[in-house]
Amino acid sequence: MKNTLIAPSVLAADFANLQRDIEMLNNSEADWLHIDIMDGLFVPNISFGMPVLQAISKHAKKTIDVHLMIIDPDRYIKTFAQLGSNILTVHYEACPHLHRTLQAIKAEGMKAGVALNPHTNIDLLEDVIQDIDMVCIMSVNPGFGGQSFIENTFAKVKKLKALIQRKNAVTLIEVDGGVTSKNAKQLVDAGADVLVAGSFVFSSQNPAQTIKELKQLTSQ
Ligand code: DX5
Ligand code: ZN
Repeated sequence: MKNTLIAPSVLAADFANLQRDIEMLNNSEADWLHIDIMDGLFVPNISFGMPVLQAISKHAKKTIDVHLMIIDPDRYIKTFAQLGSNILTVHYEACPHLHRTLQAIKAEGMKAGVALNPHTNIDLLEDVIQDIDMVCIMSVNPGFGGQSFIENTFAKVKKLKALIQRKNAVTLIEVDGGVTSKNAKQLVDAGADVLVAGSFVFSSQNPAQTIKELKQLTSQ
């Protein structure tokens, strides 16, 4: 039986009730907490930074999956390790020396992820895939929650899965943006291992129940 990992995005939580929402996630079937860090430069939005992540880490009992949507992420690798990040994902488009960045993340004891914008081709990872613990395929243009899913993502996930198999890599495939119960199963069938869901979870009547349903739908 497949165990698809569900990573609710805290970007869609109620920041005035952050502890309540983190505890809801702790008590839910969520596998990871997805944390979106935006700098207003790499993406046209600013989310939250280190003090907020520190507050989240204090209460979180699950794997902390940090998605850096920032330029020059090398500056902050050590800091994110100290703040409790278990997985640190940088953007391909923000890293001119990606191989070096990945080694630096691992040297801090974290898993190393690489996110690809919707226009970035999977083939660009051919020479580095064995060094990547997780590829995050963006299924929206990064910067905002609540956007609609880009259909070309299914083809990208399949292409990435084929690359991982061809290279005998053990890289996980995460999909981020516009994930709902409508596309979740099809993403997993295409090869996704981790699904990020923000607004679909937090806008629902019962977020913990929605997480449970996503988990059931994708882990058969
Ligand atoms: C988008 C972020 C996503 C976002 C997902 O830039 O990287 O993680 O929080 O939110 P939804 O699921 O609402 O598209
Ligand atoms: Zn994200």
